[in-house]
Amino acid sequence: MPEYDASKLTPEQQYKLMTSTVVPRPIALVTTLGPDGPNAAPFSFFNMVASDPPAIMFSAGARGKSMKDTIRNIELLPEFVVHIVDEPNKEKMNICSTEWEYGVNEIERSGFKTAPSTMVKPPRLIECPVQFECRLIQFVKIGNKPYTMVIGEIVYFHLRDGLVNEEKMYVDTPAIQAMGRMEGRDMYCRSANDRFSMPRPDLPKK
Ligand SMILES: Cc1cc2nc3c(=O)[nH]c(=O)nc-3n(C[C@H](O)[C@H](O)[C@H](O)COP(=O)(O)O)c2cc1C
Repeated sequence: MPEYDASKLTPEQQYKLMTSTVVPRPIALVTTLGPDGPNAAPFSFFNMVASDPPAIMFSAGARGKSMKDTIRNIELLPEFVVHIVDEPNKEKMNICSTEWEYGVNEIERSGFKTAPSTMVKPPRLIECPVQFECRLIQFVKIGNKPYTMVIGEIVYFHLRDGLVNEEKMYVDTPAIQAMGRMEGRDMYCRSANDRFSMPRPDLPKK
């Protein structure tokens, strides 16, 4: 069984071993607002971390000596909108991942349509099936690169028409057509059509 002392691996090797095995990863498409306008970028180091208050995290590496635009903007205005990326919007999401210089409006370049948010200033991308308006709870700086983990509280939920059965708060999850990120730069998976059910065991009766 191959085994490795992490301290003897290069950062690139560590990155490859993690990103090829921690799969599939959900993708957050994050909009922020900076001095030159709005910004959008996808992040797959992303998950939910609490439910009361509802909280999510995503983590952005540095770009050379500076922070990615998303982090620079949240440092200035501690608000953002997290969108769940679905298949119909995958090409637009991909355009948002281009490493443009600070101040370039990826939203215009990608063709996403926006609407004002309700509780925060950054706009939301209305074609995305799920949009969480968030306020920053805290930044956590990790490691040498460094990564900036952003923990945010969801203060307003938007879901596309037809997704929620409001009586029971059931969501038609396959209808979201969420994508997952797999290994390497370019691999993704679908979540809608390859699901299975496995009831959780009860405690044995005494
Ligand atoms: C699907 C996908 C997932 C990504 N996940 C991350 C991530 O978790 N962390 C990160 O730093 N960059 C990630 N990237 C790269 C960023 O999206 C890219 O660096 C982007 O240009 C950052 O934009 P910004 O400078 O406007 O914030 C990802 C790219 C793609 C296509």
